[in-house]
Amino acid sequence: MTFLLLLCFSVSAFRVKPYIQNPSPDSATFRWLSSDEFAGVLTIAQKEYVSSPIATPQIDSQSFLHSVRVDGLEAATLYNYSVQQGSENVQGSFLTSPLKGHVGRESIRLFFLADTETEPGSTGHHVTWKETPGSNRPPGMGEGRYLTDQTEGLKGHLDIISARARESIANGNPALISVVGDLVETGNDQSHWKEFWDHFGTVSPHVPLIAAIGNHEAYDAVVGYTPEASQHARSKFFTYLEHPGEGKSYYRLDFGIVTILTLDSTNGGTSGGEDDTNYLLDNPHIPDYSPGSQQYQWLEQQLQLARSQQQIIFVQFHHAPYSSGVHGKAPGRGSEQDEQSGRPMRLLSPIFQQFQVAAVFSGHDEMYEHSVVDGIHYYCVGSGGDGLRGTYVDNPFIVIHRHLGRIKIVPTNLHSSLPRISNNTRTHKKKLPRQHPNSLLPARFLSLSLSLSLSLSLSLLLFLSFFLSFLLASCLLSRNLTVEEKKYIGSDITGKLARSNATNLFLFRFGSQVGDRSKSHISCC
Ligand SMILES: [Fe+2]
Repeated sequence: MTFLLLLCFSVSAFRVKPYIQNPSPDSATFRWLSSDEFAGVLTIAQKEYVSSPIATPQIDSQSFLHSVRVDGLEAATLYNYSVQQGSENVQGSFLTSPLKGHVGRESIRLFFLADTETEPGSTGHHVTWKETPGSNRPPGMGEGRYLTDQTEGLKGHLDIISARARESIANGNPALISVVGDLVETGNDQSHWKEFWDHFGTVSPHVPLIAAIGNHEAYDAVVGYTPEASQHARSKFFTYLEHPGEGKSYYRLDFGIVTILTLDSTNGGTSGGEDDTNYLLDNPHIPDYSPGSQQYQWLEQQLQLARSQQQIIFVQFHHAPYSSGVHGKAPGRGSEQDEQSGRPMRLLSPIFQQFQVAAVFSGHDEMYEHSVVDGIHYYCVGSGGDGLRGTYVDNPFIVIHRHLGRIKIVPTNLHSSLPRISNNTRTHKKKLPRQHPNSLLPARFLSLSLSLSLSLSLSLLLFLSFFLSFLLASCLLSRNLTVEEKKYIGSDITGKLARSNATNLFLFRFGSQVGDRSKSHISCC
């Protein structure tokens, strides 16, 4: 009997360590994978939950998925937990989400990155930035090889995310990570998924992880984008990840005052048409995004609802609609076109403007690029770990474009905390964004602040003092935010990561200083 128990424990192991999914203010899903069918035990809030492992042929024949939904938690509260699987025990802690619409003393911190895409073969392999016509490889690259491999690049990102997340958790500020597509190089290759989870094992036990599905989650290295291969690859994504929305690839997640609407951009429009985001993929199971489609109608309803709830609205999907990279070319098969263009996603820009979306996050083009179109901030955060690309087309909406080399960011005045830019690479300031009509945030903050001030004293003097303090704080914060953007996007980050092929990381922080967003509504820190 003892021998059998020892044997049982010796073969039990985590294939994927616990990670947190589908967070809400009072619940979260804890998932992990084991290499056997034995139940594990999650302990949290003085309760034990015995898992019901299920075989996952979508992943492989040796993995069993454990998924435990825990309810009855308190919002924005720190919970320690442990998962016992066989003889192994993993301990973690995380903060539950803040209440929807809540603007309290706590901040929230959101991490966006895309195109992590490491694979076993990338370790130790330094990718060359090819000098092809239009690639615009920056000067000073020597042989043109990235100075670190993808593994080191992604690790560098995750080290920063992990440190920042720990800081947030210690200060009672909930955090969330989003990978905006192309999590893995080959969605149909289990070894690539293993590498993804091995990398994210440093942060996913502590910070809830969400994702938008990318084209590489429908890709097979041998047969490409056939319907069967793409469907199997996508099933891996949906097996690993649990999101709201009953298994749909588009969903809504509320995180305090922020609503994140995630879309599936991987195969929209008419196959081979001007609205097709992937000429190589024709999978009828992938939802269209075009006006009139079910996904579009859902988007319109959610935008309307979130706006009526006075939420900050973020939208994320994989294909960057505004980009100077290769996927910024017009869709098509000509030399000046691209078979996997992100430009068709511009079909959604009017509805984003109609409902005052604050920002749109995408990847696909492996670079950091910030564009502003009709007051809406569009971010390509595609430098999560894969290579860094050059520019191929002119993007007249660029605010920041990050490549190797230094970026000099010149602070602007208080009316816009977005920086003016000049640099020695290919970053150019095209125009300043106009003030976005989304004035709900400052209005809410001012309302809250004024109410608090008046409740403390009806004295006009105190009121004026508070108001002047607020203006002063706004001034200081605007400067700080500009500095922070420089820190993370500009040259300071090169101290650690400039030698990486993944040099950019994008973070948002909202909270009690939300009124500061009256200047641009979007800043990073
Ligand atoms: Fe992509």
